[in-house]
Amino acid sequence: MAFNSFFITLVTLATAVIAQQCVPYSTPFDFKSGYPTVWTTPGDECFNTDEFKSVYNSIDWSKVPDIKPHELDSDGNLVSSGYPSSDPDCWWSYNMCVTPKVPGLKPDISYCPEPNTLGLSYDDGPNCTHNEFYDFLKANNQKATMYFIGSNVADWPYEAQRALTDGHQICVHTWSHRYMTTLTNQQVLAELYYTRKVIKYVMGVTPLCWRPPYGDVDDRVRAIAAALNMSTDVWNLDSNDWQMQPAGELTSAKIDQYFSGFCSKAKNGTFANSGALILEHELNSETMSKAQQWYPTLKSSFEYIVPVATCMNITQPYAETNYTYPSFAQYINATN
Ligand SMILES: *[C@@H]1O[C@H](CO)[C@@H](O)[C@H](O)[C@H]1NC(C)=O
Ligand SMILES: *[C@@H]1O[C@H](CO)[C@@H](O)[C@H](O)[C@H]1NC(C)=O
Ligand SMILES: *[C@@H]1O[C@H](CO)[C@@H](O)[C@H](O)[C@H]1NC(C)=O
Ligand SMILES: *[C@@H]1O[C@H](CO)[C@@H](O)[C@H](O)[C@H]1NC(C)=O
Ligand SMILES: *[C@@H]1O[C@H](CO)[C@@H](O)[C@H](O)[C@H]1NC(C)=O
Ligand SMILES: [Zn+2]
Repeated sequence: MAFNSFFITLVTLATAVIAQQCVPYSTPFDFKSGYPTVWTTPGDECFNTDEFKSVYNSIDWSKVPDIKPHELDSDGNLVSSGYPSSDPDCWWSYNMCVTPKVPGLKPDISYCPEPNTLGLSYDDGPNCTHNEFYDFLKANNQKATMYFIGSNVADWPYEAQRALTDGHQICVHTWSHRYMTTLTNQQVLAELYYTRKVIKYVMGVTPLCWRPPYGDVDDRVRAIAAALNMSTDVWNLDSNDWQMQPAGELTSAKIDQYFSGFCSKAKNGTFANSGALILEHELNSETMSKAQQWYPTLKSSFEYIVPVATCMNITQPYAETNYTYPSFAQYINATN
């Protein structure tokens, strides 16, 4: 067989495997009642239920600051004109603020405190083509933190279950992946609550952590997450992989430059006193290939690569106390 036709056969086979993996399947799970429609922002059909009303009424709203939701312009970008430069609401999208101004709110988790250590995280899963990537992590005995979209959990419940079975840490990444500071209090609560609920239903655990899509969070949104006992987790190294072609505009070479820069920093002592937390994505096969491509170089540039909970010595990352994860010391002793 000529090289070209061999290559075409390979691509055809790979496409067939992806198509087969991504065929919707039925399960005993029922997401029709008690959940928002997948990929839609929760509305009155949820707000008017007794279940949601009871969650809403269980929250002490006097602790949630009265901050007006932000707006999006006609290109879908956040409008920040008119917002005071003193950043009164600790709005991450404005100037990457991670230390809330409202008393009683904890700082966001934005880096791994352990020196020369990389916190590893992947957003936007579970994706229906993730088996090869999860096999790779498993073969490397590497655990990570997965920030799951509720709609993806409902669409791909068995893929979601695999993440927990493989020992990864599961956190919430909202139901429909909107800019959270643009939503009403009810919408913010519902985006978090129903994602947590679907994760509990499918995987049996209640995450105590979430990550805002696009990092878009302020003290109002943080306070609602805190009322649900969830830490707000962002990052300090952005691979920008979600913007890579074909889903986005950036070339693969451009993404390589970001990763390469992180490795240089790790080697020149930038993280000698406190470590890093990288944002990558389980968005599609391209971002998952990129993650596999750079893993060995990251591994040789940092001393340790660990999930976010491990960075913080959080050994019980769920409300269910019978799930125990290793502390930092336990993790590195087990894997080195
Ligand atoms: C938050 O945690 C506290 C203490 O464990 C618990 O009493 C409360 O029910 C939790 N709240 C929610 C909304 O899960
Ligand atoms: C390490 O490299 C980064 C990026 O190239 C640079 O900004 C930083 O100043 C360097 N730090 C040290 C300690 O040399
Ligand atoms: C999952 O990955 C496949 C393969 O790259 C992609 O076609 C699909 O759009 C992704 N699914 C979601 C929900 O992002
Ligand atoms: C985690 O525990 C180790 C001791 O085993 C300690 O040195 C380190 O400071 C702790 N890290 C955090 C973020 O609490
Ligand atoms: C934790 O307890 C729940 C409910 O009792 C059970 O379904 C689950 O399998 C337990 N998980 C572990 C890891 O022990
Ligand atoms: Zn995301």
